[in-house]
Formats: sequence, structure tokens, C-alpha cells
Amino acid sequence: MVLVMRTEEGLFGSNALCRHMAWPMHWGGKIKDGCLRCPLHHTSYHPEDGSVNEWSPAHYFPAYGKLLGKLRKPTPLKTYDVREHEGYVEIDLNS
Ligand code: FES
Repeated sequence: MVLVMRTEEGLFGSNALCRHMAWPMHWGGKIKDGCLRCPLHHTSYHPEDGSVNEWSPAHYFPAYGKLLGKLRKPTPLKTYDVREHEGYVEIDLNS
């Protein structure tokens, strides 16, 4: 699964499963403060390169998020090159 995001900086593509606990981020993921945020434990990623901004902060219960964050080490999203061409969005899955 691939996720395509549009931010003020442009279009970006990444794998759609959160690297924390594999939540499908198209189910409630949001761009907030320029980062893609997973709705489950609020891990956020930089859309440009998939790097981790925050790992499992779980803003609703930070102690729980910290505990869950230790289950897997912070891992970036795989990203893909994306462009708009003649009204279509093209994703280079080999990038
Ligand atoms: S599954 Fe996405 S932050 Fe935990």
C-alpha cells in the first residue's frame, strides 16, 4: 500500500503502514505541522524523506506511548518519488 500526501511543499509518497505497529495511516492519518501523523499513537514522519519526527508520543497518555515506543526502534517510512503529470498522479515504485 502506498500513501500519497499533498503538503504546502508538494506531493509525497510513502508506504502506508506506520512503522511503529503497522497501523494503515490512510485510516485517520493527518498532516500536522508539516508532518504525517499516525492516528494510533501519534508517531509522526517527515513526508520528504520518511524520517521520524516523533516516535509513539501517544499525546493522550504519554507513559503508555513511551512503553509502546520501546517495542520497536524508530524506523523511517519508505518513500517514493511522486509527480503530477497531465492531471494524473504518478508514483515511481522503483524509487
Ligand atoms: S501504530 Fe502508528 S504510532 Fe503506533
